[in-house]
Amino acid sequence: MKIFNNKKDLKDCILEYKLNKKTIGFVPTMGALHQGHLSLIQKAKKKNDIVVVSIFVNPTQFDNAEDLEKYPKTLENDCKLLEPVACDVLFTPSVDEIYDDKIISEKFSFDGLEHQMEGKFRDGHFDGVGTIVKTLFEIVTPNKAYFGEKDFQQLQIIKKMVQKHQLDVKIKGCPIFREEDGLAMSSRNTRLTKEHREIAPFIYKTLKKVKKNFGTKSVIELNEWVENQFKNQPLLELEYFTIAEEKTLETAETKIDNKKYRAFIAVFAGEIRLIDNIRLKNN
Ligand code: PAF
Repeated sequence: MKIFNNKKDLKDCILEYKLNKKTIGFVPTMGALHQGHLSLIQKAKKKNDIVVVSIFVNPTQFDNAEDLEKYPKTLENDCKLLEPVACDVLFTPSVDEIYDDKIISEKFSFDGLEHQMEGKFRDGHFDGVGTIVKTLFEIVTPNKAYFGEKDFQQLQIIKKMVQKHQLDVKIKGCPIFREEDGLAMSSRNTRLTKEHREIAPFIYKTLKKVKKNFGTKSVIELNEWVENQFKNQPLLELEYFTIAEEKTLETAETKIDNKKYRAFIAVFAGEIRLIDNIRLKNN
């Protein structure tokens, strides 16, 4: 695996691959890699000649200084995990290398997608994500880029950015990877206390029950039911639960045939904020 922390060297390396007609699959990450990331890399590996992974904890997408400071950084272990999946290139730039001395986001419009769910609770988050993903795409110039569906809103926003800015890259969404007990894999899971880790699978259990009952219960009934579930669960604090249309991410009040819906949830387990979502079927 080749490792670069400087844009110029990475660009030269990619240019050489491109001159040799190699296709590039890209998996951007913030490190603290887990099986979910590795599954994206394996997918990228199947469909591209070369796989580039980036590890960069992007400061402009954090709305909470403590979350940024405490975000797990495990580069040595990450490198060990990347070898067996045959990652070809790892890019680990510094904050200066990406932002120079201006650690600020570009302002984006994602046609309203950015105002839903996470956008309501994480000020500026999606401008930060848009800024870094666009910058990384410019450096890596991938043919395809891979993102997990755990951050489903992020995935839709990146697709929108690619479409609006006419970027020449195909965005591939990949299913959520879960622990055996159902908890969606996330780098933040390592920061859960033992008791919060034990209770955290309750989030996915709740989503599965919503999925089961979606055909027979109304959206209002399901919203109320979920809120009550969390009222009875003192270790978990519900931030939002929303059933939304997949494409627009607008909150659904009623169900309309032929539309695709997902349930989205954000929960605090102590200090750690966890998100998850599930595809719903209309009958
Ligand atoms: O999903 C993530 O890990 C990050 O938001 C991303 C896409 C790598 C941008 O920093």
